[in-house]
Amino acid sequence: MKALILAGGKGTRLRPITHSIAKQLVPVANRPVIEYGIEAIRASGITDFGIIVGDSAQEIKAALGDGSRWGATFTYIPQSEPLGLAHAVKTAHPFLDDSKFIMYLGDNLIKGGVAELVEDFQSGECDASILLTHVDNPSEFGVAELDGERVVRLEEKPKQPKSDLALVGVYLFNPSVFDAIETLKPSFRGEYEITDAIQTLLDWGKTVRYQIVTGWWKDTGTVEAILDANRLLLQDIERRISGEVSDSTIEGNCVIESGARVVGSTIRGPAIIGAGCVVENSYVGPFTSVDSGTRILGSEIEYSIVMQDCTIRDVPARLSTSLIGRGVIVDKSDGTPKTARLVLGDASSVTFA
Ligand code: G1P
Repeated sequence: MKALILAGGKGTRLRPITHSIAKQLVPVANRPVIEYGIEAIRASGITDFGIIVGDSAQEIKAALGDGSRWGATFTYIPQSEPLGLAHAVKTAHPFLDDSKFIMYLGDNLIKGGVAELVEDFQSGECDASILLTHVDNPSEFGVAELDGERVVRLEEKPKQPKSDLALVGVYLFNPSVFDAIETLKPSFRGEYEITDAIQTLLDWGKTVRYQIVTGWWKDTGTVEAILDANRLLLQDIERRISGEVSDSTIEGNCVIESGARVVGSTIRGPAIIGAGCVVENSYVGPFTSVDSGTRILGSEIEYSIVMQDCTIRDVPARLSTSLIGRGVIVDKSDGTPKTARLVLGDASSVTFA
C-alpha cells in the first residue's frame, strides 16, 4: 500500500502565521504538525509516500527531505492549482498507479494512529474506508449519514447536516476512486470534493466502510484548534529535564531540552522548553510550547505556542492563548506608560484584556 499526504493549501484561517510558514509546518509540541501524520502512517508499515505540494513546495521539501529520516521514500507531487482533494488524488494517479492507498490531510492530527485501519483495509475487500467523528459544528465538514453498519450518504459542508458525524481527514481507497473522480463536477466552493467521489462510489454500489474515531482528532486549521492540539499532545508528554535549571521550580510534566537554560523561573507543566531557549525570572504555565532559541525574560506566558528565536521581555501582562511566529519580539520600552508600539504584518491580531 502507498500513502498520499496532502501538504498544499493556503492556510488562510491561520494568517498571518501562514504568510511565512506552511500550515503543515506549524509546530505543535515543538514539532511540525505534518510529522505526526507521517509517523502514524509509517507505523502502519507503509514506506512509499507521495506528498502533494502547492505554493509552499520548497519549504515543505526542505523540512521533510527525502523520507530517509523515517526509513521511507518521499515523492513530491506538485498540484498545479488548489482545485480540491479529489483533484489532488487525480494529480497523484501516476504515482499511486493501481495500488491501494491511504490519503491523509497534512494538517490533521489523530490520536491512536492509523495502523489498525490500514491493516483492515489491506486485508479486506472494500473499495473505500473513511473515519468519522462526532463534532459540534458539522456544517463545517463533510458529513456522513449512516444506516446501521452502512454509510448511506455523504455531503460536503451541508447547510442542514443529517448527522453530527464529520469526515476526518483520513481516507483509504482502492483504484476505483479514480473512475469516480473522473465523473465529478466542481462543488459550490469550486473544488473537486473527495466527499463527492466517495458518494459516487456509494451510488455505484461499491462498498464503503467507516470507523468512528475513539481518541481525539483535530484539523489544525485555526489558531484555536492548533492551541487545542498543542494542549492534547502536551497532556501525554513525560517529564525530561536535559537543560540547565537553577533557582527555579519545574512542576509536573515538563520537557526542558538540552542547551536550554531556566533561571529564577517557574515552569508549570505540561510544557516544553526547546533547545537553546533561555527562560529567566519568568513564569511558563500549562500547555505552553516554546520552540528552540527563544528567550523569555521577566515575563509570564501560558496556554500558548511560541516558535523559534523569539524574544519576550518584561511584558507587563500575562500572555495567554497566543500563537507567536518565528523571530518575534514582544517587549516593554521605557516610553510613555499605557502606550503600545506595534509593528504587525498583514492579518495579525492583538487582543488586550
Ligand atoms: C476537508 C474535507 C471535509 C473534511 C475535512 C476534515 O475540508 O473536504 O470533508 O471533513 O477536510 O478536515 P476542508 O479542510 O477542505 O474545508
